[in-house]
Amino acid sequence: MLSIKDLLAQATEKLQKANIKDARHNATLLLMDLLNCNKAYLLAHNKDILSSEIAEHYQRFIERRSKGEPPQYILGYQEFYGRKFTVNPNVLIPRPETELMIELVIKLVKELNILQPKILDVGTGSGSIAITLACELPLSQITAIDISPRALKVAHENASKHQVIDRINWVYSDLVKELSSTEEFHFCCANLPYISPSEKNDLAKEVRDYEPELALFAPEEGLALTKKLFNDVVPLIYSGGYLICEIGFGQEKALLESVNLESWQIEETLKDLQGIARTIVLRRK
Ligand SMILES: C[S@@+](CC[C@H](N)C(=O)[O-])C[C@H]1O[C@@H](n2cnc3c(N)ncnc32)[C@H](O)[C@@H]1O
Repeated sequence: MLSIKDLLAQATEKLQKANIKDARHNATLLLMDLLNCNKAYLLAHNKDILSSEIAEHYQRFIERRSKGEPPQYILGYQEFYGRKFTVNPNVLIPRPETELMIELVIKLVKELNILQPKILDVGTGSGSIAITLACELPLSQITAIDISPRALKVAHENASKHQVIDRINWVYSDLVKELSSTEEFHFCCANLPYISPSEKNDLAKEVRDYEPELALFAPEEGLALTKKLFNDVVPLIYSGGYLICEIGFGQEKALLESVNLESWQIEETLKDLQGIARTIVLRRK
């Protein structure tokens, strides 16, 4: 029978030995979730003895984490723009930098006074972009695409949880191939795979061994899918509408050079909190 303090110490040591970064933080996070409590509670109750059932559950979590599994897959969720999204190894874990795209769309909808924004999310994964925009912009009409049926299943689950399932048109498609050419949108958001397959071995174990390859890698040094979207989405965007794409480190120049300036005006590139060029913004001429 171990106290909270001893369990945490044991878990931290196991994670340290397995070379998990921020071992103590990881051990604490997993226990807080299991007990549904905060750090202050853990400190105040550090002499409490947990039931053997909870202690064993926690040790199984720590075992998984020690092998490199991301905490989000162990716990089954990730927060994005203040909401909880279910995640599993069929979907990418939503990243905070993708919130840049959300903030921009909300700002533009207000500035341009678009009453019923029509928004396309290509490569929806867990549905984080489509669902967040549906929640934040209650009059929006959203279409969300993915090439992975398993990802679409997770996105559906998240949309039900956030009560926007009926507001989103779900499409199983390779990029925008299955969309009717008569449809038009004010915004297309895309966080498509952008890692070069040659960088696979440089990725953190958490990413390389657990997140879906379909969500990570794209040919042509990671540029192929985003470049293809630049062309394929042209007929689907209203004149004056926007294409907003998340990109990888160092990809801005090559991508902007590939933009067809007859169709698009290059508006700006947003930087993430680390100062990395992260989100390309194009406007349809
Ligand atoms: C990087 S993840 C982004 C997921 C989510 N939008 C987010 O920001 O967390 C890319 C997603 O694109 C999907 N995808 C990959 N290739 C695709 C294609 N050719 N057409 C449509 N979706 C694709 C993957 O299945 C994956 O769900």
